[in-house]
Amino acid sequence: MNRLARKNLLLLGGALILLIANTVIFMPDGQEIFVQERCNTCHRFRGQGGAAGPDLTNVGKRRGALWLTRQIRNAKTHNPDSRMPSYDHLGVLEVCALISYLKS
Ligand code: HEC
Repeated sequence: MNRLARKNLLLLGGALILLIANTVIFMPDGQEIFVQERCNTCHRFRGQGGAAGPDLTNVGKRRGALWLTRQIRNAKTHNPDSRMPSYDHLGVLEVCALISYLKS
């Protein structure tokens, strides 16, 4: 391998490590978002929460990550008459954190 290729590989490795570290360090807390965004006022999860929406205790087993992402971002994609608000202001990491919380 020539010097340039080695240097590029090193840069790429460094960038990858930074990306992973960044995601781990700044990964938001799904449980916190669930409460902050008031999901718990409508949904029961593991014995706690409201009843305007379905109990989410086992939703992580019934639904895939893509389905859950769509439901959270815009519930009307699954049910045009849905009373669940759209959470399209949430970032990718926040939605990921919510889903991993629901699947935990
Ligand atoms: C105003 C009440 C309300 C709030 C707040 C709310 N939801 Fe919902 N949600 C519903 C209702 C009602 C449904 C039933 C399906 C539909 O009409 O979309 C539902 C359905 C769901 C489902 C699918 C459940 C299933 O069994 O298929 C998921 C997952 C979900 N909500 C997650 C969330 C998350 C995460 C939040 C917070 C970011 C949230 N909801 C906030 C009312 C709400």
